Amino acid sequence: RKRVVAFVSGSGSNMVKLADSCAQPDFPAEIVAVFSDKADAGGLAKAQARGIPTFAFARKDFASKEAHEEAILAELERQRPDIICLAGYMRLLSGRFIARYEGRILNIHPSLLPLFPGLDTHRRAIEAGMKIAGCTVHFVTEGMDEGPQIVQAAVPVLAGDTPADLAARVLTVEHRAYPLGLRLVAEGKVRMEGGRAVAVDAPAGEATGS
Ligand code: GAR
Repeated sequence: RKRVVAFVSGSGSNMVKLADSCAQPDFPAEIVAVFSDKADAGGLAKAQARGIPTFAFARKDFASKEAHEEAILAELERQRPDIICLAGYMRLLSGRFIARYEGRILNIHPSLLPLFPGLDTHRRAIEAGMKIAGCTVHFVTEGMDEGPQIVQAAVPVLAGDTPADLAARVLTVEHRAYPLGLRLVAEGKVRMEGGRAVAVDAPAGEATGS
């Protein structure tokens, strides 16, 4: 099973869904640790309740952005993740960090990328008059919310939706999309190649079970 470290800054509901999937006997990955840049992130308590080791790296405890990331990278080396899942992690990773784990960092963003990257995505989708919204699980590259898409899921935008209404509806499909995206990558069925996400064909024998 692939070793996964999940990164959270907030409530961690996506991390919980990943952890629930990982608890299934046939799931190809396990969460070995949860990291946060916030000591009081709800996601840390939820991970602890599941017996998952947690590590908090509060930015204010470090003199610089570089020192902060250095500490995170050092602990990551000890955890030896195959895959890193950003799950509501609200901090940009440096190019050096991304290069170290190239093609092995996943993120979930609550829009149908490349539409509405960055913050305040639901308000912008509503203001643009979108009739559908959704989420994207993608590989992380240096540009914010720019990496190749692995899984997307859509929901309707309803008349009178507030950004909070839309966020809640999108979150329900995030909770299915992220475990699916992690499964595909952990099984080697999708990988990043030349800046794109490519589906890897099953070996000929697999379909027939031979
Ligand atoms: C999720 O909606 C996730 O897509 C979003 O933050 C929320 C975290 O919720 N991520 C971003 O906006 C990243 N730019 P959670 O902590 O309950 O999983």
